[in-house]
Amino acid sequence: MSQTVESIVRCIREKTGFVPRVALTLGSGLGDYAGQLRDASEIPYRELPGFPVSTAPGHAGRFLLGYVGEVPVICMQGRVHYYEGYSMDEVVLPVRVMRALGAETLFLTNAAGGIRADYRPGDLAMLTDHISCFVPNPLIGPNDDAEGVRFPDMSHVYEPELQELLMSAARETGVTLKTGVYAQLTGPSFETPAEIRMLRTLGADLAGMSTVVEAITAAYAGMRICGISLVSNLAAGITGQPLSEEEVIEAGREASDRFTRLVTAAVRKM
Ligand code: HPA
Repeated sequence: MSQTVESIVRCIREKTGFVPRVALTLGSGLGDYAGQLRDASEIPYRELPGFPVSTAPGHAGRFLLGYVGEVPVICMQGRVHYYEGYSMDEVVLPVRVMRALGAETLFLTNAAGGIRADYRPGDLAMLTDHISCFVPNPLIGPNDDAEGVRFPDMSHVYEPELQELLMSAARETGVTLKTGVYAQLTGPSFETPAEIRMLRTLGADLAGMSTVVEAITAAYAGMRICGISLVSNLAAGITGQPLSEEEVIEAGREASDRFTRLVTAAVRKM
């Protein structure tokens, strides 16, 4: 474990002995879900030495530790992004911290631009795979063999059993859940229409600015991973409308009830 992770974990352990099973990262506009946690205690990121603090809109900066049903959950209300100027090490540090606290499962959520023709704004899509090659790999650098192997397998990043669990939670709650392959780009500029055509040709269904590097780090560290994108807008060039951050936040508000029902039903089974 790196010294930074160790000192952050020590700092958290001075406040609480809570051992999470599930780590839940809330994407842009989806942070209100944190209000669903029962008996929650809160730890602002700024109280943790060396912890990156989000500057992105729609991202509060704190951990919430509490229960969904009987499942102990650590929830990130606000994540940091590479485009904020943090190093890739800093961007994935929270995943390492949550793992070190005991979380076995990482549930990633985000807002994304929808590339596939059958998406509509407001759709929820379960991640089946990702494309990482437009952002630096978070594992570049010396390898800590105690944490994971040098060349980790990425054949099944989004665990098939967790995908089934999400689909069954969707059926139970009556929430329509599509599927998709997510490509992470650095941002902060949205893509051009030509870039979206390129991504479509490459097999991407969703474009966003997070998630993949966190998933790589978690897969490396042996966590089980699943993810959901909220299609906050159709990707650049599809409707011809300009894209904006307000639209992303508003889509989160609109999807909040469906997102909450689905995530709660899924986490209860984890
Ligand atoms: N592109 C990239 N990231 C995004 C988008 C998009 O269209 N919408 C929300 N996050």
